[in-house]
Amino acid sequence: MRRSLTALAIALGLVAAAMPPAQAQTPGWHARATQFANRPALAFGVAWYPEQWPEARWQTDLQLMQRAGFNTVRLAEFAWSAMEPEEGRFDFSWLDRAIAAAAQSGMMVVLGTPSAAPPAWLTQKYPDTLRVDEDGKRAAHGGRRHFSFASARYRQFAARIAAEMAKRYGKHPSVVGWQIDNEIGPPSWDPESVAAWRGFLEKRYGNIAELNRRWATQYWSQHYNNFDQIPLRATGQHNPGLLLDFKHFTTAIWTDYVRAQATVIRAHADPRQFVTTNTMFWNAGFDHFALHRVVDMASWDNYIPNGRPDWVANGANHDLVRGYKQRNFWLMETQPGRVDWVPVNRALDPEQVREMAWQAVGHGADAVLYWQWRPARNGQETYHGALLGSDGTPVPVFDEVARTGKELAQAAPLLADTQPVADVAMLFSYDSRWAIDIQRHHKDFDPVQQFLSLYRPLRIRAQGVHVVAPDADLGGYRLVVAPSLHVLTEAQTDRLAAYVRGGGHLVLGPRSGMKDDANALWPERQPGPLADLLGAEVEQYYALDAPVEVQGSYGTGRASIWAETIRPVAKDVEVLARYTDPGGWLDGKAAAVTRRVGEGRITYIGGWLDDSLLATVATRLLDGADIRPVLPDVHPDIEVSLRSGASKRAVILINHGAEPHSIALPAGASPVTGDLTGGTLPAHGVAVIELR
Ligand code: GAL
Repeated sequence: MRRSLTALAIALGLVAAAMPPAQAQTPGWHARATQFANRPALAFGVAWYPEQWPEARWQTDLQLMQRAGFNTVRLAEFAWSAMEPEEGRFDFSWLDRAIAAAAQSGMMVVLGTPSAAPPAWLTQKYPDTLRVDEDGKRAAHGGRRHFSFASARYRQFAARIAAEMAKRYGKHPSVVGWQIDNEIGPPSWDPESVAAWRGFLEKRYGNIAELNRRWATQYWSQHYNNFDQIPLRATGQHNPGLLLDFKHFTTAIWTDYVRAQATVIRAHADPRQFVTTNTMFWNAGFDHFALHRVVDMASWDNYIPNGRPDWVANGANHDLVRGYKQRNFWLMETQPGRVDWVPVNRALDPEQVREMAWQAVGHGADAVLYWQWRPARNGQETYHGALLGSDGTPVPVFDEVARTGKELAQAAPLLADTQPVADVAMLFSYDSRWAIDIQRHHKDFDPVQQFLSLYRPLRIRAQGVHVVAPDADLGGYRLVVAPSLHVLTEAQTDRLAAYVRGGGHLVLGPRSGMKDDANALWPERQPGPLADLLGAEVEQYYALDAPVEVQGSYGTGRASIWAETIRPVAKDVEVLARYTDPGGWLDGKAAAVTRRVGEGRITYIGGWLDDSLLATVATRLLDGADIRPVLPDVHPDIEVSLRSGASKRAVILINHGAEPHSIALPAGASPVTGDLTGGTLPAHGVAVIELR
């Protein structure tokens, strides 16, 4: 099942400038997202707000950016009032000059469409464009994201400014891409949104009888006579079908919203300019896999709010973002030190800003951009980390950033055209996450934490995990783990079953296969439509207020928060672990089972197991699938990431710990940049290695 690295590289190829002809001919996204000839393979830069500063200062800024090693600036994503100071009157003269100055300094430019921050003239004249919260309160002007995502009028204004920008800069040789809006997210409950919701439901279900059937509205007399009766709600005591469909609705509206701007940009832009939108970590507001179908490339904003990075958890974020399009992505924002939006805005320790940059690259980022260059004189974010202080000179972290820039430039030729490689995929299902959050049953059953409980041991051991949608093509993976595939559709069932029958190993975690995509119970016991393939079913599930012992071939440990008893049905089902729960419901019952299916295998783990048991589980699963780490025997503080291209392999090593560790490199490996000396990686050290 191992996909050939060459095929992977071709499928995921990114930078055309260095591409061999066969890849360059690949149509579609590759061509679109490709940077222009002679562009650096890795972008390194910053969000720059020239509109906030006197023009006389710009050259100084750009010179300092060059000193930081930057080759990219992101501009204009909050500059609507500067670009369209009055309705229909556009002024791009300042932006023309800012782009020209940036270009002269050798910068690539990413332009943000400014729709996250509507100008006062717009919201004053058209208050219907302002968002309304779930309690019916209309937003006031003065912050950002205070528009209604469903407002047709707002979309027109947003599309118009995006189109004007694209007409002007769509062929600009220094403009490499477009960022639509900025961290889209909050929905709205204004009358237009309510109407759109009802239209959405009508389209989804066809008629009200079908909606009633799928939501099982006989319950509590919820029966609807027509779509106009259905309230738009996201929280509260509502039908779980309604609440899950609210998420489907927000996904559809935000996708339309982004598509509307993408369409006008593409109408004017050089196809080599990418279109993206920057997203936030673990944002549950919409299905990111679905939304990313309308953009060319994923990008995201990586912040460590408390300044205490957990490298594995942060790596999972990157892998999720990579999974949106199963391709490399851009890190559009990250903190030069600290944020300003949590109760204690601790700065990262020395060298951790550099670690974060390299971690992103290791997981597939082809760009690292900081937020922000210099704090504005005033505004809501004057306390946020920046590269310059209030006097316009570098802050202490500047030198670390500059060193990172030099190293990125050294490693760029090796990293060009390479992508992260993994034999393990983990399925992340937004529907499942939402459905569990709607009815957690145990307050501590946090689907993201539960996902991480399995991601952590797998990532540490396999040194590469891809996170993909439950309907992704799984053909290239030897092991597929779905920590909690609560919502399971028939189409997904077919794909997963085909994967197992084709020789793959599918591992399902607790709560899998319980609901359909209307958040209704499957009529079969869990894992619902996969129960036949498993040859076993969940007899009962239990929320735990105290851990329960689990024993079996994984060793002895405990299940907490959640435990399901599994009843084997087919004769060839093997019990891997049982609960010990004297006097309790779980005693002696199966906690994990597995079944061979042809050349493949399906495993079900019914409890939320403790970390050390999961470490053994991960080792067994990886051994069973013959998945070897890139570098064996490295200390768990060392992050190892492999990026491969058609004829090259690069390993990025990061010591996230506070102690030095020795690393044994394979024969023929040569360091390209970083701190590896005498086989030792110092505390917080980084090294990029070329493998031959
Ligand atoms: C991001 C946002 C930026 C800035 C930053 C501060 O979420 O996109 O505009 O506000 O946070 O951390």
